[in-house]
Amino acid sequence: MDAIRIRGGKRLVGTVEVSGAKNAALPILSATLLSDGESLLRNVPALRDIDTMAAMLRFLGRECVVDAPRVVVHAGSQVNPEAPYELVKQMRASVLVLGPLLARFGRAKVSLPGGCAIGARPIDQHLKGLEAMGAKIRLVHGYVEAECARLKGAEICFDLPTVTGTENLMMAAALAKGRTTLVNAAREPEVEELGRVLNKMGARIDGAGTDVIHIEGRDELLPFDHAIIADRIEAGTFMVAAAATGGDVLVLHAPLENLEPVVVKLRMAGVQISREGDGVRVVAERRRLRSVNVTTAPHPGFPTDMQAQFMVLMCIAEGESVITETIFENRFMHVPELTRMGADISVRGNTAIVNGVGKLSGASVMATDLRASASLVIAGLVAEEDETELRRVYHLDRGYERIEKKLAGLGADVVRVKGPS
Ligand code: EPU
Repeated sequence: MDAIRIRGGKRLVGTVEVSGAKNAALPILSATLLSDGESLLRNVPALRDIDTMAAMLRFLGRECVVDAPRVVVHAGSQVNPEAPYELVKQMRASVLVLGPLLARFGRAKVSLPGGCAIGARPIDQHLKGLEAMGAKIRLVHGYVEAECARLKGAEICFDLPTVTGTENLMMAAALAKGRTTLVNAAREPEVEELGRVLNKMGARIDGAGTDVIHIEGRDELLPFDHAIIADRIEAGTFMVAAAATGGDVLVLHAPLENLEPVVVKLRMAGVQISREGDGVRVVAERRRLRSVNVTTAPHPGFPTDMQAQFMVLMCIAEGESVITETIFENRFMHVPELTRMGADISVRGNTAIVNGVGKLSGASVMATDLRASASLVIAGLVAEEDETELRRVYHLDRGYERIEKKLAGLGADVVRVKGPS
């Protein structure tokens, strides 16, 4: 397995380009199941999760050619509406094929994802919604088996906003008979992006990106050509890395409008952020930043996917910061690793109290999930002139395209060390 070695203490300076959004590309790849013909996705990031979704589409009977940043999906004549455990366990977002398969082919068998490192992550809201649309659902031998000759429109109120749950039901409703209304829907930009694509396919969707979405179902949908929006979490990660190293970085294509809560918290901490053309310039002076408190929340709140990275910044800021995680029950797995690098953090329930210590020291650390890995990379960049070795890099490769090359382009001393696979 590969490792990443970082010699810290370098100020990040220069320009870095943000890739397409993983969490937008995944549901859009799944949406190709809703039509026949050839769809073209552009600005797709080269990531392991994209390869996993492509493997899933091939398993289901689609031709899928990944040549990032382009992906072409061609509908074959056959479909095998079954998503096996081997693929779903690699990536929970595989559950996104459930809605399209059921809506298009009248049945679907999709493995239940099971728990994951950051929490239990049930899919009850996806299933309740599909049942309300007329699906018969059984849980058999770890699989969801769903059936319905034709889904029908329904009024559905989510008990809590769920991103992939909202996306699954939007895709199902796009081919259902009649009108569906989703209340308390997730408002993430990736949901809005899926709405844009479904509308390109001929669906009539109103309100994607707000908490009430109306979907007028159609009898058939068309293939599409679409360029994916930039990844707000990748952009946010580079912004925090720039701030943590006292750097001066232009983050090209950073979608500022989708990054408001991160921008506000960075500014409160003393980081200068300004729009510059198609990007965002982040400038931090070498003096210590101020501590700020952060509570994660569904969009437009502070994203849980930025919590770990922001915590590193607070580890070296002046004073005490309280970081509260409200989305996932087990998303502080980076804390023990940061503590090994000299951070002063105590966790009580879903709250972490971070006492800024000014500097961190390098160590051998282990990645546990995608965003935790990103936080450890930032910690490694901060650890002055010490070496950090990050193992289990496959977590990082799920969601960050060539991160070591992008950071090296900003002057960081980062290399990937190939290990036995
Ligand atoms: N939840 C339920 N029941 C459900 C669905 C969700 O109780 O049926 C709970 C979850 O357990 C969690 C909360 O609702 O406590 C929100 O989960 P959500 O369903 O919104 O998460 P998700 O759709 O599985 C997506 C992203 C995650 C991101 C979360 C929150 C994709 C592919 N994944 O997951 O991204 O953290 O939304 O914003 O869009 C990542 O990229 O690193 C990542 C984990």
